[in-house]
Amino acid sequence: MRVLVSGGAGFIGSHTVVQLVAAGHDVVVVDSFANAKPSVAGRIEALTGQPLELHAFDLTDHDKTEHLFAEDSIDAVIHFAGYKAVGESVERPLDYYENNIGSTISLLRAMERHGVGKLVFSSSATVYGADPPVPMREDLPTSATNPYGWTKVMQEQIFRDVATASNAAGRSMRIALLRYFNPVGAHPSGTMGEDPADVPNNLMPYIAQVAVGRRERLGVFGDDYPTPDGTGVRDYIHVEDLAAGHIAALGRLEQVEQPVSVWNLGTGEGTSVLELLHAFERACGRELAYEILPRRPGDIAASYADPSRAHAELGWRAEKSVDDMCADTWRWQSQNPEGYPSG
Ligand code: UD1
Repeated sequence: MRVLVSGGAGFIGSHTVVQLVAAGHDVVVVDSFANAKPSVAGRIEALTGQPLELHAFDLTDHDKTEHLFAEDSIDAVIHFAGYKAVGESVERPLDYYENNIGSTISLLRAMERHGVGKLVFSSSATVYGADPPVPMREDLPTSATNPYGWTKVMQEQIFRDVATASNAAGRSMRIALLRYFNPVGAHPSGTMGEDPADVPNNLMPYIAQVAVGRRERLGVFGDDYPTPDGTGVRDYIHVEDLAAGHIAALGRLEQVEQPVSVWNLGTGEGTSVLELLHAFERACGRELAYEILPRRPGDIAASYADPSRAHAELGWRAEKSVDDMCADTWRWQSQNPEGYPSG
């Protein structure tokens, strides 16, 4: 299949591109580089042994998006592109709505005009809202607690409406909404990983930067949650498992009857902040400094998936352990202390 990967230079996108090529797909990447460095392209090429077809533009540019679909015969799209920082979305909601919703509409318009009917979307467990029951199942109601989360809820709704209309009009559009839990880890080679542009918001990249000496200590946001050690519990999933989930979903879209499928991608296992910190200490071989801080506004006590639908319907399940996630993250961070080279 010829697959367009939007946001293919980003953390999850880059790992998925490598696996798509290995699975025999023909890949074309579009990325605005708003939140990725161009040097990732060389890393992808070194891993696949093939030149990467890469277009550097923003999908909200309708003319460029249209031109790409007109010039290329794309069979399917995996749509990762989007802004993803919760705090920033609270400060700059219009940027989030304009970019995340705008790129999706531009992409769907081009897909409709050019008869492209398969799409896999990068959604998030954030669509389960403020205080969902755990483990989270796909049939829970959706809502959000911040503009970033609302863009995911809204994009899911746009995909449902467009797929329904398209099927009513006799076109067989098939869309997969993949709800990720907490993506972490890195490519086992140590050449690709997560490279936050600023101070990391998320736990694993923050721990990795403490371990490599870029930050003094980890701030643990609250130790009085109703969890076994009082710190927040999350379902961390290795980016390589996540990438494999996209390949499985793409294959499955060939067979599903319904226009929209929803699959959780998580391990089903909860890990606390301190458990993850201690696992990372084992991976890097030394103790890491931390201090307990107040809870971060908007955080919930525990979030983990019921991943059974993805297992039953995709034949997919996460294979890698928390120790694998920490070992691979450490390999990436220690080999690339400052992330990808600029330029
Ligand atoms: C966050 C977002 C979520 C988004 C996801 C993307 C919030 C409230 N939620 O999820 O919408 O989809 O990232 O990956 O931002 N922690 C610390 N110290 C830190 C950082 C985090 O103690 O410096 C704790 C948090 O309180 C939480 C856990 O670590 O208990 C995981 O946090 P994080 O990695 O930011 O992920 P989420 O909050 O689950």
